[in-house]
Amino acid sequence: MDKIVIRGGTPLNGAIPIGGAKNAALPLMAAALLSEQPLRLSNLPHLADISTMAHLLGEMGVSIAMEGDAPGGGNMGRVFALNASGLSSTEAPYELVRRMRASVLVLGPLVAREGHARVSLPGGCAIGTRPVDLHLKALQAMGAEIELTEGYIEARAPNGLKGGHVLFPNVTVGGTENILMAACLAKGDTVISNAAREPEVTDLAHCLVAMGAKIEGIGTDTLKVQGVTTLHGAEHSVVPDRIEMGSYAVAAAVTGGDVVLKGGRLELMEAVANVLKSAGVAVSQETDGVRITRNNGALKGFDVMTEPYPGFPTDMQAQMMVLASVADGASMITETIFENRYMHVPELVRMGANINVHGSSAIVRGVKKLSGAQVMATDLRASSSLVLAGLVAEGETVINRVYHLDRGYERLEEKLAACGADILRVRENG
Ligand code: UD1
Repeated sequence: MDKIVIRGGTPLNGAIPIGGAKNAALPLMAAALLSEQPLRLSNLPHLADISTMAHLLGEMGVSIAMEGDAPGGGNMGRVFALNASGLSSTEAPYELVRRMRASVLVLGPLVAREGHARVSLPGGCAIGTRPVDLHLKALQAMGAEIELTEGYIEARAPNGLKGGHVLFPNVTVGGTENILMAACLAKGDTVISNAAREPEVTDLAHCLVAMGAKIEGIGTDTLKVQGVTTLHGAEHSVVPDRIEMGSYAVAAAVTGGDVVLKGGRLELMEAVANVLKSAGVAVSQETDGVRITRNNGALKGFDVMTEPYPGFPTDMQAQMMVLASVADGASMITETIFENRYMHVPELVRMGANINVHGSSAIVRGVKKLSGAQVMATDLRASSSLVLAGLVAEGETVINRVYHLDRGYERLEEKLAACGADILRVRENG
């Protein structure tokens, strides 16, 4: 398994290209299942999760033509034309769902178009139990019959789904996406209340509209969908990855650097930008991207709580904890979305951070320095926090289990090295 080796202490200076959002690309790829005509997606990131989704769709009979990189060069994403005209299967097997929970996003589109789907239950994951009960209840409210057998969700709607009122008791990104896609081909109108408003949900909604869907309330917590009988082909460019932006913003901040996140859009990361500003970091929208600068003064502690969008994203909690670890004073970080998302804490403590977790909150007392160590993480964003800690730590940090990073960060070591970081990947066989 590959490792990443970092020698910390160099301020980052330069430009980092921001790719398309993984969490937008995955539902967008699943949306191809809704139409017999091709969906052409550009600005897709080169990531392991995208390959897993492509593999899953391929197993169902979706043909995928890779059309090379988008205009602007190899750094700005690839282009897939997905054609689901001849579906041969409506099953998502355990083997693939186990690798990537987002595989469950094929459920809504398959039931809506084919009247049937058999999708493995995702089971637990490193950051908590993460059930899909809300997806299933919502599909039932739209007339689907759901059975759970042998670890699989068996969903049937032989006469098609019907519109209805879906009220999510708590905000679910994947649940909103699954039901939004399903509602596009349901008979009649569907109202989704307490819908997720994440930019990735909005991006999906815009793509569905380009495919002929009738959706009102895009970007709000109430989505109204008027069902249509078919959707047609479309072209869509994936929204920039706000978590990639936020992660590199923290990298620039903790190292005391000056970095432009090229292609980034500040309005996608307002909550993160506000925390950075309160910590003493300058954040501004420039013509070619978002600029992050910290060249004078110490970082200041802050309090932050994760919330659904437009609140502070849970996917940035681990990275922001690194910033708190080296800021002056105490910070309080509260995680409200996932119950077990402090797996990075013991590793950061091994690097010298002073962090105490009490229930869902972590008190972080800033220290003068972190020191390099051998570390590993159990999920994607936790791994990214260890990279950030390595960039600011004295000495050498070795990050094991790099495959987590490869699920969500494209060419991470290349992008950081181009801004002066001393970072390299050590390839190991086996
Ligand atoms: C998506 C993101 C993930 C992000 C998360 C929250 C993708 C591919 N992943 O995950 O990176 O961290 O949003 O912003 O887009 N829940 C239930 N029952 C359900 C569904 C969810 O109890 O049926 C709970 C979850 O356990 C969690 C909370 O609701 O506590 C939010 O989960 P959700 O928004 O659904 O996350 P994902 O869509 O899985």
